Amino acid sequence: MEMPLNLDDTWVWESIGESTRRRAETSCAEARRRLIDRSGPGRGFLGWLDLPETIESHVSDIVETAGRLREETDVLVVIGIGGSYLGARAVIEACGGGTRGFPRIRYAGHHLSGKYLASLLDELEGRRVTVNVISKSGTTTEPAIAFRVLKQWMENRYGRREAAKRIIVTTDPSKGPLRELASKEGYKTFPIPEDVGGRFSVLSAVGLFPIASAGHDVRALLEGARWMRSCFLRDEGGEAPSFRYAAARTALAAVGKRVEVLAVFEPELGMVAEWWKQLFGESEGKQRKGLFPSSVVYTTDLHSLGQYIQEGTPILFETFLRAESAGGDLVVPPLDGDSDGLQYLAGRGLSWINRKAWEGTALAHRAGGVPVMTISVAGLSCFEVGALLYMFQAAVAISGYAIGVNPFDQPGVEAYKRNMFALLGKPGFEREAEALRRMQGAG
Ligand code: PA5
Repeated sequence: MEMPLNLDDTWVWESIGESTRRRAETSCAEARRRLIDRSGPGRGFLGWLDLPETIESHVSDIVETAGRLREETDVLVVIGIGGSYLGARAVIEACGGGTRGFPRIRYAGHHLSGKYLASLLDELEGRRVTVNVISKSGTTTEPAIAFRVLKQWMENRYGRREAAKRIIVTTDPSKGPLRELASKEGYKTFPIPEDVGGRFSVLSAVGLFPIASAGHDVRALLEGARWMRSCFLRDEGGEAPSFRYAAARTALAAVGKRVEVLAVFEPELGMVAEWWKQLFGESEGKQRKGLFPSSVVYTTDLHSLGQYIQEGTPILFETFLRAESAGGDLVVPPLDGDSDGLQYLAGRGLSWINRKAWEGTALAHRAGGVPVMTISVAGLSCFEVGALLYMFQAAVAISGYAIGVNPFDQPGVEAYKRNMFALLGKPGFEREAEALRRMQGAG
């Protein structure tokens, strides 16, 4: 089978001494061993490692439910935030958006904008709507508020019994407020395995149901992930892309780099970059450690952030993410008189020009002292995207262990939530509210 992706890290090692490289590779090899042995921190959340296999028993239900939905739905509203939303959207956009003849996918509950939600409700008028609310805890404020609004809208529109047939809940397999509500109202449910955390859940029903509903091939997505999983598991010699990527990042952090810029060359990969930022930021950024994950879409951002990347404070390195063939292309047409001076490009495809933009950028940034590496996927089909997602998940698990953090928790996310609850007047948060009022007064 053709390799779904390739990692070229050659230029990373130009600026890194042999001993640093050896240390990074040794700590990543040890991290990989602890993942496979399940002997590292957060070992209760390693379900994602086997998800491409273990999800198999749910795939028919997911695909059949998505198939039924297609007959009676114009718009599927997916409610969720963070790991309960980014993966599905990343895959749907990378694989070309909605498919003709399938429901359009809209998102809610991923922020608190009332304006956005009001205009979404306007858009739903006159359309046949199904809602998929996704929350493992069932207590996350943003999706819970959006679900209240959508539930009421659905019940007003369809009546409670019919609305119940159009609400699908993806949540914890046995507990939580959404699980309880689903049993009470008779909603269809999909489980999120207990040992799979939010940002590692794209290959569970969290991602698969919206992706299948948009008309994409979830079996191919899982096949790509399985391909990368067996590459990761077999990799005794440190050759798997997940291992090499983790080792390169670990070494770059050791020589003082603080920011990784993921640079994509197809706008369709923009949401993959958003998913990647959450995966790496929430997994590595703790105990005052971890690389700050940022992203750019080229060539657009070469005209905004390119200057900084080339010549700014030397704290960053760049990972290019590109597709050898993104599907769909146009050719530069001839122009009488050549007034724009582009005649030398007439007949050339935009994808070829985009490739040259990547080559030129990589050479320029490297010459400017920015370490660069490139991940190339053969195309943007579900197979390649599945391989890519699994590769990133395995890489961040390795690099998280290698820098000595637990990649599977997110204790820092709680601080803003506690403040928000206190400021909103949630019962039980009175003391925090008083302390915050004093702090605000002091400011
Ligand atoms: O990665 C994570 O765990 C988080 O991003 C969660 O997915 C996010 O906070 C949403 O949580 P929940 O699914 O419980 O609503």
